[in-house]
Amino acid sequence: MMKGVHFLAIVALLSLTSSLVSAYDPSPLQDICVAIDDPKSAVFVNGKFCKNFKLANANDFFFQGLQIPRNTANPLGSNVTLVNVDLIPGLNTLGISIVRIDYAPYGVNPPHTHPHASEILIVMEGTLYVGFVTSNPENRLFSKVLKKGDVFVFPIGLIHFQFNVGHTNAVAFASLSSQNPSVMRIADAVFGSNPPINPDVLAKTFQLEPKIIEYLQKTF
Ligand SMILES: *[C@@H]1O[C@H](CO)[C@@H](O)[C@H](O)[C@H]1NC(C)=O
Repeated sequence: MMKGVHFLAIVALLSLTSSLVSAYDPSPLQDICVAIDDPKSAVFVNGKFCKNFKLANANDFFFQGLQIPRNTANPLGSNVTLVNVDLIPGLNTLGISIVRIDYAPYGVNPPHTHPHASEILIVMEGTLYVGFVTSNPENRLFSKVLKKGDVFVFPIGLIHFQFNVGHTNAVAFASLSSQNPSVMRIADAVFGSNPPINPDVLAKTFQLEPKIIEYLQKTF
């Protein structure tokens, strides 16, 4: 009887552990698993459906055009080009993707998190003030001014940002540890949710007048 209870407890513990682990991109179960939209000619493994191995080719692992500067004439003065599994189907199940970020002078990639991915960023042009903040209760800021060739890491899930402190354009590339890192911009999520969060919640949270909250909700 006691042994049976013991066994059940271990099973419960194992299933808990495996449900935590499954919050990450699964490890690949085969060399490649090219994403394909038509399920009729596919084998489902994980992530997206996989193209039949015999039909996969080099173009499934290829993307071009990331050398082209992007337009930063927008209120933030930045432009993020994410190349994920939707653009390179061969990324399916591999747990990695890449991004190009353009910054106008004083442009910002505003505070955001990637729920599925850590990020490693390299500056190719310009000077960036970057940082991330750890969780409560420390809320410690790790920040740095980066120049061309400098590399910085943003750990998974933590809020981070980059700001171009130079008088010229800046460019960075980053790799993210997910085929689909996804992004939550804090301001958009809090003030621009759809439908909006009740302004009373935000007024209390940020200790601001409801009128200011309504203004912020209109802005985002
Ligand atoms: C980013 O740049 C591309 C190409 O230059 C442009 O089509 C797109 O609208 C830009 N996005 C933003 C948010 O400015």
